[in-house]
Amino acid sequence: MIRALEDTRSGALTVRAAAKINLHLGVGAPREDGFHPLDTVYHAVSLYDDVSVAPAPEWTVETALAAYLEGVELPGPGENIVDAVGRLLDPTGDRAAAVRIGKSIPVAGGMAGGSADAAAAMVALDRLWDLRTPDDELLRLAAELGSDVPFALLGGTARGQGRGELVTPVADHGDYAWVLVPSERGLSTPEVYRRFDALFPDASPEPPSPTRVLEALSYGDTGRLAIALRNDLEPAALDLRPDLVGVLERGEAEGALRGIVSGSGPTCAFLCESHESAQTVADAMTGAGQLALLALGPVAGAHVVEVL
Ligand code: C5P
Repeated sequence: MIRALEDTRSGALTVRAAAKINLHLGVGAPREDGFHPLDTVYHAVSLYDDVSVAPAPEWTVETALAAYLEGVELPGPGENIVDAVGRLLDPTGDRAAAVRIGKSIPVAGGMAGGSADAAAAMVALDRLWDLRTPDDELLRLAAELGSDVPFALLGGTARGQGRGELVTPVADHGDYAWVLVPSERGLSTPEVYRRFDALFPDASPEPPSPTRVLEALSYGDTGRLAIALRNDLEPAALDLRPDLVGVLERGEAEGALRGIVSGSGPTCAFLCESHESAQTVADAMTGAGQLALLALGPVAGAHVVEVL
């Protein structure tokens, strides 16, 4: 239940942040700092992590996993990205909080789950500690935490440039139904980028621009968007995980307009013509023993959902 913001007796609050899909992920040759220049279109979808914070005498972080994530490896004490958020927002270490992360976004799945946790924790701790950090400063701090964190704050559909941290909202007149197929094993993002470098030693320093995706979005045209979807990391992810080829083929055979690897993978994302069609595809995948989740996009960035 969402309560009025004035009702803040205990001071605890929950912030929700969404998973992302890259509708276009153009990747260039690595820069001198080792990062790859990107020209990407991020799209926030309705699969969420919730970060709750409450006043406490000392800093603690606990994680509760959605049933389908049970058994996944979690960062050790002090090593969660949310610990890094605490250190960044309060370098003195004077402030504390009891943090609880409710995870539904796949871990190491190419959907920026860690970045969602970071963005949600930034908003939550900023409120809890009454820091009143200006938005542009929050975006700058988010970029220090990871390339995808600024987008997790913003949400919606946005172009990402630089190493992905320079975000601009784009004109998007549609809403889209997705089926997400997570994988039991995650993929390491740096490893996928290294495989990209090995496969494409002659990549241009300029990442390919997302003209066709932006055009499809401006018309809200699902069919055009399906054709325009592009992920330059997909060959690298498929090279590391050849089993995903069959997943992509199956989703398309079951009626999805198009299947792509999400970001650095291994989650596969299927764009469907309608909610009904997405339900049909998800049921068919589930029937074949593959976990499949329905999601809609675009949805909001990190936002407060509960204040106690
Ligand atoms: O920025 P983030 O911490 O999410 O990046 C994780 C890793 O992914 C980096 O250390 C780097 O190996 C790779 N990466 C990259 N180019 C980008 C973004 C990430 O090479 N634009």
